[in-house]
Amino acid sequence: MTVAVGARLTLEGVGHQYGAAKVVDSVDLQIDPGEFVTLLGPSGCGKSTLLRILAGLLQQTAGKVSIDGQDVTGLSPADRGVGIVFQNYALFPHMTVEDNVAYGLQAQRLGDRKFVRDAVQRMLSTVRLDEMAKRFPRELSGGQQQRVALARTLAVNPRILLLDEPLGALDKNLRLDMQIEIRRLQRELNITTIMVTHDQEEALSMSDRVALLNAGKLEQFDTPTKIYDQPNSAFVATFVGTANLLEAQLVQHARRFVAQPSVGGALALSSPSPHANAGSIVLAIRPEQWALASETERAEALEAKVQLVMPLGPSLVIDLLLRDGTSIKLAMPRTQELVFEHGMILYLKLREGARPSVFSASGA
Ligand SMILES: Nc1ncnc2c1ncn2[C@@H]1O[C@H](COP(=O)(O)OP(=O)(O)O)[C@@H](O)[C@H]1O
Ligand SMILES: [Mg+2]
Repeated sequence: MTVAVGARLTLEGVGHQYGAAKVVDSVDLQIDPGEFVTLLGPSGCGKSTLLRILAGLLQQTAGKVSIDGQDVTGLSPADRGVGIVFQNYALFPHMTVEDNVAYGLQAQRLGDRKFVRDAVQRMLSTVRLDEMAKRFPRELSGGQQQRVALARTLAVNPRILLLDEPLGALDKNLRLDMQIEIRRLQRELNITTIMVTHDQEEALSMSDRVALLNAGKLEQFDTPTKIYDQPNSAFVATFVGTANLLEAQLVQHARRFVAQPSVGGALALSSPSPHANAGSIVLAIRPEQWALASETERAEALEAKVQLVMPLGPSLVIDLLLRDGTSIKLAMPRTQELVFEHGMILYLKLREGARPSVFSASGA
C-alpha cells in the first residue's frame, strides 16, 4: 500500500479581499510535513477563507501558497493533492458507504476495479467501519457518517488533509471520540493536516501547533503550551483560556519588580526578565496564578470582594469584584478548611513562581 507522505506547506504574505474588505491579511506560515495544525480564532476572522485558499477552491488576492516548494497557484484541489472534509459531510444519500468511499477513486480513475475495491476496504477498516460497507448514510450515526466522509477523502491518498470544523455537528461525547480518531488516523498516515475550529479546547488538545487568527491577521503560531503559557498579545491571552487583564504601572525596586494596578494595591512579580520595561503595562493573570496573601502581606496585595463561589470538581472558582467594578476570576484547589462567602474581602497576590504575561499598554 502507498503510504501518504506528508507535504510541507508554505504561505507567504497570503491575503484575501472581498471587494474592499480585507478578510485575510499577509499571513506567513511554515507547516512541516506530517504536522497537525489548527486555524483557531473567533467567528468571521478568516479561517474558512484561508482554508479554501489552501485547498485551491478560492484564489488569494495576495501572496503565495507552496506545497513542497512548488507554487500551487491556479492548481485544482486534486492537482494539489489536497483532500477536504467539511462540517456538513455531504455524503451521497443514495449510495452505500462503500460506494461513497469509492467515489473519488473512480472519479479520478486512479485504478481498476480490484484496486478500487481493495482501497475502499482498507480505508473502511482504517476508520473502523468494515461492518458498515453496505449501509446507506441514513442508517449511520453522525459520527459514523463523519468517518465515512474522512475515509472518502483519505482514499485518494492526499498529501494534505484540510478539515473545516469537521466535528461541529457532533454532540460533546462524540466529539471527543472523533478528536481521538482523527488524531490517530493523522499520525498513522503521517498526513499534513490543517483543521479549522473556533473551539480552543479542541485546538489545544489536538494540534502540534496552533495558528491563532484575529481579524484576518496571524496573532501567534506556536505549540499549545506556548500559546497558553506565553501568549504574545492580550488578545491571545484572553481568547485562549481565561485571563484577568489589569492595567498597571510597572516599577522597579532594586532587583524586584512590582506592578501597581490602577485600581490600587500592588503585586510583586517573581521573575524580572520578561518585565524589563518599567512604565504602563497590561498584566494578564490566569485564574490559577492567584494566591491568598497573608495578613502581613496585605500592604502589597490586591483587594477584591467575593461575588460567586463555584465548586468545579477538584477546584474552586471564585468570581470577584475589584474596587473599580472590574470582575476577576480566581481558581484554586478545593480544600476543606477554606470557606468563602459572598461579600467577603480577599487579599490577592501572585502565586509563588507564577509568571503572568506582561504587555506594554500600547497593546504590543
Ligand atoms: N463570498 C464572500 N463574499 C464576501 N464576504 C465574505 C465571503 N465569504 C466570507 N466573507 C466574509 O469574510 C470574513 C471571513 O469569513 P470566514 O473565512 O468564513 O470566517 P471564519 O471561518 O473564521 O468564521 C467574514 O467577515 C465573512 O463575512
Ligand atoms: Mg468558518
